[in-house]
Amino acid sequence: MPTPLIIDTDPGVDDAFAIALAALSEDVELLGVTTVFGNVPLEATTLNARRVLALCGRADVPVAAGAARPLVHAQLQRASHVHGSDGLSGRSAALPEPARALEPGGAVSLLVSLLEAAAEPVTIAPIGPLTNIALLLAAHPEVREKIARIVVMGGGLAGGNTTGAAEFNIWSDPEAARRVLVEEPVPCVLVPMDLTYRCAVDSTWLGKLAASGPIGTALEALTPDYLAHYRKALGWDGIVLHDAVAVAEAIRPGILKTESYPIEVECSLGPARGATLVDRRRQALRADAEGDVAPGRVEVAVDTDLEGLRGFILERLTQA
Ligand code: BDR
Ligand code: CA
Repeated sequence: MPTPLIIDTDPGVDDAFAIALAALSEDVELLGVTTVFGNVPLEATTLNARRVLALCGRADVPVAAGAARPLVHAQLQRASHVHGSDGLSGRSAALPEPARALEPGGAVSLLVSLLEAAAEPVTIAPIGPLTNIALLLAAHPEVREKIARIVVMGGGLAGGNTTGAAEFNIWSDPEAARRVLVEEPVPCVLVPMDLTYRCAVDSTWLGKLAASGPIGTALEALTPDYLAHYRKALGWDGIVLHDAVAVAEAIRPGILKTESYPIEVECSLGPARGATLVDRRRQALRADAEGDVAPGRVEVAVDTDLEGLRGFILERLTQA
C-alpha cells in the first residue's frame, strides 16, 4: 500500500528535491502540497512548489497557499542568501509553468479536506516553518486521529544555522513549532540539522543526478546559489538536502534511526529564541527531576546509513 503523504513546504532548493522525491516515488500517494512563507516570501514559495510538481508531471496533486507570516512575531530574516533571490538559485522561471490552478480555500482548508477524506491515517511532512500545521491542529483538533505521523525537518541538538542556537525552520516561527512539537498529542518525528548535515551530498552525486535525464538535469540546475552557500558551510563542494532527508523518512519509515526524547522549544525573544531543547539525559535522571510532569516527547532522528540514504534519494530522483 502506498504511503499517503502531504508535504508542507517553503521551496527552497532542498524543498524542491524533497517534493520531487515524493512526487516521483511510486510507493507514495502524494495527496497534496501546502505552502508557507520561509526561505522566500509565500508568493515565491507557492510558485516554486507548483513549478516543481509540473516538472515531475504531477498536475494531479493539489496545491494550496498557507501562512504568509509567523503566528506571533515577525520573521526577521529570510534565507535568500542560501537559496537565491527566488528561492531556487534564480532558476525558478526555467522550470515548467504550473499545470494546475491553486486551490482556492488555502492551506488549512486543503489539509482538513484531504485528512477528512483519507481512508487511512496520513503522514504530514512539514519542511518549512510550522505555522500552517500549528493553525491546523489549533483550529481542527478532530483531524488529529487522521494523522499517522508528522515528520518535521527542523531543529538542532548542538546549535543552529540561523543563530548560534536556532535552526531556520524553528527560528522562523518558534510559537508554531512549540505548539506542534510540545503541546499537541500527535506522533512527531524531528529530523534535526545535526543528522541532515551528515547526509550532505557531493559533486559526484550531483553529477549523477544531472546525467540521469530531463528531471535530474532540471533539479541539479537549481543548485548553483545553494552550492555556493554550502561550499562555505561545509568547506567542500556539496549541498545539504535537509528536507529530502525528512521526506525519505516519511516515505520509508525507519530509514532514519530515531530515539524518543522530551523536547522544549525556546520562545523567548532573547538570543536562544527558536532553540530546540532535546533532553538526552538518562531516563533515570529525568524521572528524578520531572516528578509527575510528563513533558512532550518526540522521536528524534539521530543516525542513518549515510551512503544508503544518499543512494535511496538518488535512485528515486533518477528513476523517472
Ligand atoms: C531548513 O531551512 C531551510 O532553509 C531549508 O529549506 C530547510 O527546510 C534547514 O535549516
Ligand atoms: Ca524548507
